[in-house]
Amino acid sequence: MGITLAIETSCDETSAAIVKDGFEVLANVVDTQIEMHAGYGGVVPEVASRAHLLKVQPVIEQALSYAQVTEQDIDLVSATYGPGLIGALLVGVSCAKSLALAWEKPFVGVNHVEGHLFACLLDHQIEPPFIVLLVAGGHTQIVQVEELGNYKVLGSTIDDAAGEAYDKVARYMGLGYPGGPIIDRLAHDGDPEAIKFPRGLNDDSYNFSFSGLKTAVINYVRKHPETKDADLAASFQEAVVDVLVNKTVAAAKGAGINKISIGGGVSANSRLRAKLAQTCEQQNISCYLPSLAYCTDNAAMIASAAAWKFNKYGPTALDAGAYPTLKLEYPN
Ligand code: KG4
Ligand code: ZN
Repeated sequence: MGITLAIETSCDETSAAIVKDGFEVLANVVDTQIEMHAGYGGVVPEVASRAHLLKVQPVIEQALSYAQVTEQDIDLVSATYGPGLIGALLVGVSCAKSLALAWEKPFVGVNHVEGHLFACLLDHQIEPPFIVLLVAGGHTQIVQVEELGNYKVLGSTIDDAAGEAYDKVARYMGLGYPGGPIIDRLAHDGDPEAIKFPRGLNDDSYNFSFSGLKTAVINYVRKHPETKDADLAASFQEAVVDVLVNKTVAAAKGAGINKISIGGGVSANSRLRAKLAQTCEQQNISCYLPSLAYCTDNAAMIASAAAWKFNKYGPTALDAGAYPTLKLEYPN
C-alpha cells in the first residue's frame, strides 16, 4: 500500500502525518491554534486560515523528518477536503494538490468525519459490521459501518454537537476554550448526581439534542449562583454522557451488532470512555476506544482513510475543491 502523507487543516489544528500501509503511523505532527482563539471563546475562521497558511509547510517538513522519509518515498498525498471551515480547508487541499502535482504522486481528498471513523482502526482491528459514535465540536452522529465505505447514519444531533455543548457551557461558566477538556478535568472533583439535568431527546430515536441542556445549565446557575463549578461540570457531563452511551448501545442492539467504537474530540472524554466501556461489558458488546492522540483532530487518521480510499476508489481528480458541508457517504 505504501507511504501516505496527509494534511489536516479543517478547523484549528494544522497537522501532517506519514502513515505506512494504511495503519502504521511513522509521524503525526499537530500544531494547535487553541491559544490564538482562546481569547475569542471559539474558533475565528479568518484567524484559523491565516495560521494554517503559515504553519502548513513547517508541519509537513517536521512530519517528513520525524518519519525519516523524503518526497521520493511518498506514494500518496492526501488532505481533508470537507467538512470544515472553507478558508481553513482550502489551505490543506491546495497544498496537497500542489505537492501531488510537483512530486507526480496521486492525490486523495478525505472526508474529515470518515477520518475520525478511521482513528480507532489505527489502534484496533475491527471487522465490520460495527457501530461508531462520532462526537466532536462540529458533528455528533451514530453510524452503522456495514463495511468501510458503506455507512448508514442511524442518528445525528438536531441542534448543537456534543463538543459544541461542552464549549458553550464552559464559555458561560467563564472556564476558557476549548471547554471539553476543562470540564472533563473539573468534573473529577464534582458530584455527577448534584444536579439532575434533563436528558435531551429521551426517545426511541438515535438522534440527539443538546441545546436544551445548555439552557438548563444557564437557568440553573441564574437561580443557584452559589453552585460549585465542579458539581455543575460533573452533572452537566453526566447528562451528556448518559445520552451518548444509552443511544449508542441501543443503536447497536437495534442493529444486532456487538461491536462499538468511538471517534472525534469528545471521544477523549474520560467519563464517556469509562461509562461506554462499562456499559458494553455489562451488555457483552466489544468496545474499541481510540488512543487519546487520535481522538482530536490529527492527520494520521486522515492518512489512514486516504490509503483505504485510494485502494478502493483510486485518486481524486486534481480539480476537486473543498467542501464545507461534505456528507459521510459514497461516492463523495
Ligand atoms: O475532533 P475535534 O478536535 O474537532 C472537530 O472535528 O470538531 O473536536 C473538538 C471538540 C471540542 O468541542 C472540544 O471541546 C471537544 O472536542 N473535546 C472534549 C474533550 N477533548 C476535546 N470534550 C469532552 N471531553 C474532552 N476530554
Ligand atoms: Zn474533528
